[in-house]
Amino acid sequence: MEFAVKQASITNTKSHCLIVAIGDSGKLPANTAALDDACGKIISKVISQGDIKGKSGETLWLHQPEGVSCPRILLVGTGKDSERNDAAFNKLMNKICAALKTSGASQAHCFIEDFLPQNRDVNWSVRQATLLASNSQYRFDQLKSKKNDDKPNLSKIIWALSDADSVKSAEAAVSQGAAIAKGITLTRDLGNLPGNICTPTYLETQAESMASNYAKISTKVLQENDMAQLGMGSLLSVSRGSRQPAKLIIMHYNGGAKDDKPIVLVGKGLTFDSGGISIKPGPQMDEMKYDMCGGASVFGTLTAIAEMALPINVIGVVPASENMPDGDANKPGDIVTSLSGQTIEILNTDAEGRLILCDALTYVERFDPAVVIDIATLTGACVIALGKHASGLFSNDEALSTEIQQAGHETFDRVWPMPLWDDYQDQLDSNFADMANVGGREAGSVTAACFLARYTKKFKWAHLDIAGTAWVGGGEKGATGRPVALLTQFVLNRCAK
Ligand code: BES
Ligand code: MN
Ligand code: ZN
Repeated sequence: MEFAVKQASITNTKSHCLIVAIGDSGKLPANTAALDDACGKIISKVISQGDIKGKSGETLWLHQPEGVSCPRILLVGTGKDSERNDAAFNKLMNKICAALKTSGASQAHCFIEDFLPQNRDVNWSVRQATLLASNSQYRFDQLKSKKNDDKPNLSKIIWALSDADSVKSAEAAVSQGAAIAKGITLTRDLGNLPGNICTPTYLETQAESMASNYAKISTKVLQENDMAQLGMGSLLSVSRGSRQPAKLIIMHYNGGAKDDKPIVLVGKGLTFDSGGISIKPGPQMDEMKYDMCGGASVFGTLTAIAEMALPINVIGVVPASENMPDGDANKPGDIVTSLSGQTIEILNTDAEGRLILCDALTYVERFDPAVVIDIATLTGACVIALGKHASGLFSNDEALSTEIQQAGHETFDRVWPMPLWDDYQDQLDSNFADMANVGGREAGSVTAACFLARYTKKFKWAHLDIAGTAWVGGGEKGATGRPVALLTQFVLNRCAK
């Protein structure tokens, strides 16, 4: 899908499709009113006939209107002015994309200025709409022998603006939107790939191709013997239960000055989580191929950053492993020694995410990070707490937490802060080791974060539990690409500082 920005006057725009807004206040927005005048009041007529009321997200096609050089008009309701917020904007943009999908138009002009949420400017809206429109075309059919051939006709959207002066900055917004969309697409593809294809070794290859695609990215991968030499007993205990060797993938994006401290992103790359000896129940176990979505979001975010050539240093680290119930797998009660030297009693082999993350988090100390953010499908308890709308946010630094929440609001890729109080730490007490890897039924997502907190004392750190947000189940099963938009925004905001 291609995007462009053009200064355009609606009455002499040649287009396959004009997309215009209708509020429900009775008064048409400027562009819509001008179009209405040019085509014999056909818009006023369909409104007074009651065919469209202007409710947010309503759509109505008008074909072959007279008086304009365009075969189609798509009328779109924007609802009450006071209700025009980010959520409503996302919904109506998705409605527009859905309508365009089934139309014959191969190109369309959207008069986006009449759609803006109340507190947002043209640039935000152009960027967000570009991202949503790209995302709406996503499909994952690479593993179907018969490709889906009902490909949409639409190949280009033009964001039409009234003011020539705003074109340049809107063009920058389009390229940002497209860069983020590219990252999101990669994240969704990696997530949707099955466990027998997307193994730790596959992710290693992916990291190598990142380095060959982008001059500013270099990749290094630690193999199991490297990790053994370092003393990553916790991470390696998880991969011992699997035929697939673990990998610790490290990708450096060098866009900043040599001595600028890097932002470090650590993503859980568990390519299939069977639970191990504490094996999971059968229903929906297939969805545990998504247990590498944190890692996938690191690949996606680095892609977006590299596409935008941002002037900043970012390091992406992905501990990658399977969690399987082999004869040599972790057993409940086993005690392992982590890279930090702290010992862990593995009371439940299904709490494996924290076991691979803790060693990766200790490892990144060497980068003297500005901040470390880990991203993980860590706990089912987080899904119970927050559902699919917000990722759980835990942090040992107030300012960092605020910064991440802000980036979440800006992108509508939202998080919600959760406590990391010491009061919860006792739940991890073990009679036989420094800590247990599980903290009982209560506050499962908090005790998981508290476990990680024991490995992140040396830097500013935040943890995003994306168990509820990284994919959706059911008929629309698929990876969402979250939280790439949030993470990229976080990095963009740091660049602006
Ligand atoms: N990958 C899962 C978490 C998960 C479960 C994410 C369901 C999304 C949906 C993680 O490795 C896990 O199994 N966690 C356990 C922890 C428990 C044993 C303390 C969980 O959440 O049940
Ligand atoms: Mn698990
Ligand atoms: Zn897991």
